[in-house]
Amino acid sequence: MSILDLATPVSDTVESVNMIVYGDSGVGKTVFSGSGRDKGKNDLILAVEHGTSSAGRAGSKANVLTVRKWTELVEAIDELIEDPDRFDWVIVDSLTKVQDLIWEHIIGEARRNNPGRNVYARELQEWGAAQLMLTEVVERLNGSEVNVIYTALAELGTDEEAQEFKLPSIHGKGGKLAAWVCAQADVVAYMSVGRTSKGTEYRKFQFNKSPEVFAKDRFNLFPGKPVANVTLEKFTDKLLEGNVETPEATENTPKKESN
Ligand SMILES: Nc1ncnc2c1ncn2[C@@H]1O[C@H](COP(=O)(O)OP(=O)(O)O)[C@@H](O)[C@H]1O
Ligand SMILES: [Mg+2]
Repeated sequence: MSILDLATPVSDTVESVNMIVYGDSGVGKTVFSGSGRDKGKNDLILAVEHGTSSAGRAGSKANVLTVRKWTELVEAIDELIEDPDRFDWVIVDSLTKVQDLIWEHIIGEARRNNPGRNVYARELQEWGAAQLMLTEVVERLNGSEVNVIYTALAELGTDEEAQEFKLPSIHGKGGKLAAWVCAQADVVAYMSVGRTSKGTEYRKFQFNKSPEVFAKDRFNLFPGKPVANVTLEKFTDKLLEGNVETPEATENTPKKESN
């Protein structure tokens, strides 16, 4: 048999979806995470960050697993990869905070070997390890059948023309790690709080890149200008629109045929 016999038509390859939702603290990332179909009852929030109660107050029925340590995160990911259909969406809230867990783990291990170790100084090889650990989380989840959303804080980067722009706050290699994580994502959306001319607040979602904001939408779900008050339910419906006849859609799983 030739390896080429394994090739399948592109329309038959169903991929899992991965997305980044980023924005400043308090914009509504966690509330969005809990806003899936059936009030999110088939979704799992991996709560690395404090503050999942905001989703509960907003009426979410999403499942929450509090993750306090790197080893707990790895254990959860191992099991999710084994059982990818258990939840419609798995939300890592937040990837920014996962980096803190990684550093706590690295410094904790170093101190076990050397109790006199300065906890504030970080050694060169540890930076490399920290980046690899984050890369591994993203690669394993994105490479699995799990539909995953990463939330992240926003920070300001600078492009070649010295123009400042927003991007997800993921530290490493002078911005290259954040760029790498974004390159792996199908959708990157920037969230902010908008205000109508009458002064009413709304949640603004930017799915397309502008000079000031990094964003992308591989599925072209929300072309054009930023959109208001997207919920995870609306996003999921949009993702499944057009292939409602497919088995995935009737099973309620947010999968998208690649095209
Ligand atoms: N879609 C929304 N509509 C109205 N208020 C919202 C919405 N999303 C968030 N909020 C308000 O903003 C607060 C912070 O939201 P949260 O999701 O916890 O922010 P983040 O996770 O981005 O820090 C919530 O407690 C709620 O008061
Ligand atoms: Mg939050």
